[in-house]
Amino acid sequence: MAKPDQYAVMGNPIAHSKSPLIHSLFAKQTGQQLEYRAILVEIGQFNEAVQEFQQQGGKGLNVTVPFKRDAWRLVDEHSPCAELAGAVNTIVLREDGTLYGDNTDGVGMVRDIKENLGVTIEGKKVLLLGAGGAVRGVLGPLLQEHPSEVVIANRTAERAQELADAFEDYGRIDGCGFDDLDGTRYDIVINGTSASLKGEVPPLPEGILTRDAFCYDMMYGGEPTAFMLWAEDEGCERVSDGLGMLVEQAAESFAIWRGQRPETAAVITAVRAQIS
Ligand code: ATR
Repeated sequence: MAKPDQYAVMGNPIAHSKSPLIHSLFAKQTGQQLEYRAILVEIGQFNEAVQEFQQQGGKGLNVTVPFKRDAWRLVDEHSPCAELAGAVNTIVLREDGTLYGDNTDGVGMVRDIKENLGVTIEGKKVLLLGAGGAVRGVLGPLLQEHPSEVVIANRTAERAQELADAFEDYGRIDGCGFDDLDGTRYDIVINGTSASLKGEVPPLPEGILTRDAFCYDMMYGGEPTAFMLWAEDEGCERVSDGLGMLVEQAAESFAIWRGQRPETAAVITAVRAQIS
């Protein structure tokens, strides 16, 4: 019998990645024969690791921290979304040996917010916290939803301004520091800083949420993140972590590789059960 098609996620660290579980559930659900594993790649060894996977006949890769930028540099062709994001999280290893790079993070986040959580982005005032790779990766798909305005706030205000400038052709967008936020209320606040990893919350002024605001953390975990607790303290009743984003970006990758988009609801429930 032929060996099933091979897929993998590369990152560092990678041991706790939920991607193998998610993709095995997708494969089962869609009746597709494939194997998906996690590969720990040493820093500085990303290109070599991809080459080795290619030599083994691998069909596709997910790329996670800290290699999304390396992946963007390595691939031969970018999707428009990856081009704009400046980062690649999904690689197709084509038969002819060339590499195609896409980025499904932004589409995954938007799908989670809209479809799974039922929140409309169109016409809303959106505040994005952070100006690193995570925020850059979702800006294109977010702006495509036509929010009335996007403000990027970051500890280092210049990084927020630079990022806003880079996306000014795609919608109404501005960048600032956290101190500059006083006085305006937002309908949707999305945390894309890595502060949650350290159990910290960006220093946000009080009173920046509208009455029925929605707060979303791109991070996820067994417990609510520090940002989610901050939102609840501010009286916010609609708060979510980013587990749905993780599953949705995976579903987009699966669709790119296999031509079939899996159902995500049951998979989100299964992964949630595993982490709590
Ligand atoms: P990623 O690719 O995960 O976005 P990154 O490019 O290192 O990683 O960006 C991390 C982001 O989290 C940045 O916006 C960073 O702010 P600075 O640009 O000022 O460094 C933000 N960040 C990290 N720790 C933070 C903290 N404790 N409070 C607020 N912002 C924080």
